[in-house]
Amino acid sequence: MEDSHSSVGPGTLRRIADTWPRRATVRTDMDKVTDPGPYDPRLPDYPEHLLPFAAHPDYTAQSEDRRRHTNTLAWIAYNARVIAAEEHVANPTFTMLAHGRFPGVDRYEVKQVVQQSHVDEVWHTYMHMVAMQRTREARGITAEAEIVQPVTNRRLFALADQCAESWERDLLFLLWTTVGEVSINAFLDLLAGDRTIQPMHALVARLHARDEAAHGPVLAELMKEIFPRLDSRQQDFLIRWFPEAITAFGAEDYDLWPQVLGLAKVPKAADIVNDARSASDAGLMLTDFSTVRRLLRDLGIEGRVEFDFEALRPGSSRAAGDADTAEHAGVGA
Ligand SMILES: [Fe+2]
Ligand SMILES: [Fe+2]
Repeated sequence: MEDSHSSVGPGTLRRIADTWPRRATVRTDMDKVTDPGPYDPRLPDYPEHLLPFAAHPDYTAQSEDRRRHTNTLAWIAYNARVIAAEEHVANPTFTMLAHGRFPGVDRYEVKQVVQQSHVDEVWHTYMHMVAMQRTREARGITAEAEIVQPVTNRRLFALADQCAESWERDLLFLLWTTVGEVSINAFLDLLAGDRTIQPMHALVARLHARDEAAHGPVLAELMKEIFPRLDSRQQDFLIRWFPEAITAFGAEDYDLWPQVLGLAKVPKAADIVNDARSASDAGLMLTDFSTVRRLLRDLGIEGRVEFDFEALRPGSSRAAGDADTAEHAGVGA
């Protein structure tokens, strides 16, 4: 059986565009999201094992109420990360793509998949928003906690702020969107198959992942149209920043967790997170970037992108790049 990526080719965008009316979850599954059935308060909102400090003795010593509250806030933060990636990174990029800001996006089926993906993304934001609100109501969370922009966005904005040229900024958004769209299912799958949590939470991740299974090939195809039409300075720029985009997408968010623990009134929040951070090899919550690697190979630039995919194999102890570089380094560095 051919895998989903090897079928990517000239006819792929046409096929994705033609099947969208039948495939898109906004059409087929809206009822499941808006009317998800009863909420069972005994079930956790988020997989407990995904908390990087889940086994820390100062955390496990907390009352059940406090740990449950932490778990609920982690679920809210997970949704906030997804929504922020769509609202502040993917959708602005889809708008730029629709407005012809990049070369190679003029054929009708290319424009079609851009608009379809954009519609999907807005629906995803709505879907996650509904799920979060349901949790807030069920758990009696009334305060709108101010949560930091997720790490993936922070690193992009820090780099974009330092761009001297607008094309550099545009390409960074395109790059972050590409890496995000081809990798997001690894992030969604963290919840999609989990049977320990609220069924609706796994369902939202599953429905989202179904749409994203098409967006990955869409972005891969778009990059194959755009990249060869860029001048060499622009191609070099993308090659230079690919590693940062990958580590930013997969990064564990160590600015977020002290906030979450603080909101749940867990004492020694900073210490708990610092300990979890030093116990982590690469500071990543995701380590499977095989789809990015395949794209680099298809673009013919795998050997020019300085990212050690092998180092991320399970059991490897080597970190992939300096996880904090992008938040502190200049674009020209
Ligand atoms: Fe999405
Ligand atoms: Fe997407």
